[in-house]
Amino acid sequence: MGHGIAQIMAMAGLGVSMTDVNREFMEKGYDRIKWSLEKFVEKRTIRQDEMDAALARIKLVDGYPNTVSNADFVIEAAPEDLALKKKIFSDIDAHAPPHAILASNTSALSITALGSATKRGDRVVGMHFFNPPQIMPLVEVIKGADTSDQTAQTTFDLAKRLGKTPILVKKDVRGFVVNSVLGYVFNEAFWALNRGEATRDQIDSAVRYKAGFPMGLFELADFVGLDIIDDATKQTALEYADRMKIPPVVEPMVKAGKLGQKSGEGFYNWKSGRPRIPFELADEFDIDRVYAVAVNGAAWLVYDGVAVPEDIDTGMKFGLGWPSGPCEIGDRLGLDIVVAKLRELQAKFNEPTYKPCPLLEEYVAKGWTGRQAKRGFYTYA
Ligand code: 3HC
Repeated sequence: MGHGIAQIMAMAGLGVSMTDVNREFMEKGYDRIKWSLEKFVEKRTIRQDEMDAALARIKLVDGYPNTVSNADFVIEAAPEDLALKKKIFSDIDAHAPPHAILASNTSALSITALGSATKRGDRVVGMHFFNPPQIMPLVEVIKGADTSDQTAQTTFDLAKRLGKTPILVKKDVRGFVVNSVLGYVFNEAFWALNRGEATRDQIDSAVRYKAGFPMGLFELADFVGLDIIDDATKQTALEYADRMKIPPVVEPMVKAGKLGQKSGEGFYNWKSGRPRIPFELADEFDIDRVYAVAVNGAAWLVYDGVAVPEDIDTGMKFGLGWPSGPCEIGDRLGLDIVVAKLRELQAKFNEPTYKPCPLLEEYVAKGWTGRQAKRGFYTYA
């Protein structure tokens, strides 16, 4: 995602120094920036002179001292390996000016741990973009335990300058807001496939054509990269063993080199482009199961004080293109119906994912069942 982030910075008028482990990777990234800018020119989103100006603002630079010595803001987008990222943060810290903010685009790793690899934990922050960053409007701003309010505010302001909609993740929990809810949803699809309850096509068809998500869940997993999904869900399951158990679906594929779109094959074969998801199977998977685990995931985030319902809904709509956020969906379906669905699934499969969050049980006990009751996650007039 690094090249996409560099591109939107340059499109916003900022000078960018871009680096990678070798020249070949940098040039590959630069070519992808050119491809994307050409698409925008083709679509008349930008003019040719704007494309040329954006490209002229991006420099490919070798090594840390040269890349970061004049930087005000550094964004790291290396693979999801905590030891690797800590080493990168420590190196950047040694060479970046003292005032510079160091941000990570990590999907799920601890911002606090990255800050502890530097001598400026107050100026280390999560700035999490969504793929493709040139298109998806969301940025999650994550506060680590030591991140200052000023650093979070500057990161918020930068996201707005890029034309993005930022949300604040108040606690440094694994998966933050969007990947946390998405993790439960992916897991539901992976378990259903693993148990032989439904096929990839039945699930993706229901997700695309009943729920109206822009991609099927298996399609999205391939698009994001199965290695990233594997890492992110494992991180979440480590912290929340009582809430999530991962089925043996993605890990064997990663071990076999099937990483999704980037390797040409994952759940789908991508060699001839985006997969075709059959419309006619949309009724063959119960989409309320996906909704129930998403609503439960959102409830955990509210219960744990990680984010407020408005930000969770903005996150899922702007980060993943969902037509509604999980809190809106829960209030619309009825939180009593959601809890009943979770209990039904819990009775059937006895998995921790289906344990209703105490917040949902409390709301239902109080009669706050959603839109019809005029009170649920939101209050209605
Ligand atoms: N730059 C410029 N243009 C681009 C582009 C890019 N990077 N990527 C796609 N486009 C263009 C396509 O080329 C296409 O143009 P064309 O019509 O001339 O061919 C146009 O955008 C529309 O694309 P598509 O026809 O392929 O398909 P869609 O209309 O569905 O749009 C999408 C593509 C925006 C990716 C949409 O499918 C979508 O919103 N999908 C969901 C993506 C999502 O959920 N992302 C978040 C993943 S989670 C994450 O990133 C977090 C991480 O931590 C794991």
